[in-house]
Amino acid sequence: MVRAVSVHTYHGTAGKEGLMAPRVYVTRVIPRAGVDRLQQAGFDVDVNEGDVPLRQDDLVEKARSYDALVTLLTDRVDRRVLEAAASADLKIVANVAVGYDNVDVAAATDLGIPVTNTPGVLTETTADFAWALLMSVARRVPEAEQFFRAGKYHGWGILMLLGEDVHGKTLGIAGFGRIGQAVARRAAGFDVKILYYDPVLGPDVGKPFGAQHVELDTLLRESDFVSVHVPLTPETRHLISTQQLQLMKPTAYLINTSRGPVVDEGALVEALRAGIIKGAALDVFENEPLAHPGLLELTNVVLTPHIASASRETRDRMATTAADNAIAALQGRRPPNLVNPEVWTERK
Ligand code: DGY
Repeated sequence: MVRAVSVHTYHGTAGKEGLMAPRVYVTRVIPRAGVDRLQQAGFDVDVNEGDVPLRQDDLVEKARSYDALVTLLTDRVDRRVLEAAASADLKIVANVAVGYDNVDVAAATDLGIPVTNTPGVLTETTADFAWALLMSVARRVPEAEQFFRAGKYHGWGILMLLGEDVHGKTLGIAGFGRIGQAVARRAAGFDVKILYYDPVLGPDVGKPFGAQHVELDTLLRESDFVSVHVPLTPETRHLISTQQLQLMKPTAYLINTSRGPVVDEGALVEALRAGIIKGAALDVFENEPLAHPGLLELTNVVLTPHIASASRETRDRMATTAADNAIAALQGRRPPNLVNPEVWTERK
């Protein structure tokens, strides 16, 4: 279905001495704080107020017509978009997310286009949510809530809606970067043993958290809860598939707040149906906004619509961080969160 794109323009003042103000295109509604920041820097800002991702042809057209693009993870910033951008000397693609698997960074680098993300500002909020999912699936919170609303609670029962304890268990964190570490920090109050797997970071990183560095297979075999916090790259696509799920305990739970394709959803459905693992809590999916139909039929899963970073404060910070990156690039300064810094070195 083709939907109308309504664009609102916020006029800046950078061009007031006769020059055109640089023009920024925001591909979808973002928190107002981000637009204000861009406008206060003097730029003309057009926002796709429709809050629906642009069609690919429209995105190409915007890339060709503006000085900066502020994009969201629902935009596919592919080589075609980037070639259009390069032909028009676009100064930056400022993605409003820490993840940037929606941007062809290799192509952007070839074409000399800086790409930025929003690291740091959503770490704690995402870690909070990973714990919310972990607790929800272990203690069957959504199931219990539905049970209550359906009028099925007719009196307390000693065997009613039994879940699993979280305290005293083993938590396996796959990917021990900023968010993985923030998840580990929260574990202290639950007196859990922490294992972590990270192909880049070694054993020392875990020491302040009392966390032990292990190989992925060991983590899967020994953990009661496995929480995934890796970026999506060709190496991490289907990091968790049939073979890995089979290593997990039949009493274990999988939590994913990273990117959907890190987990092979078909294999997960099979594992959940067959009792290979006990349950899963997922905030991200292989083909968003769709989930594997099998997931929707299972009661031992908790499903949320990619909201791990969705607090008002954090979404404001993501928008202003992306705006700051765009402002820096448009003012000829190095953007603080470049994911392809080699492009900037070349530009000096
Ligand atoms: C990100 O930033 O990459 C999250 O998935 C959305 O907040």
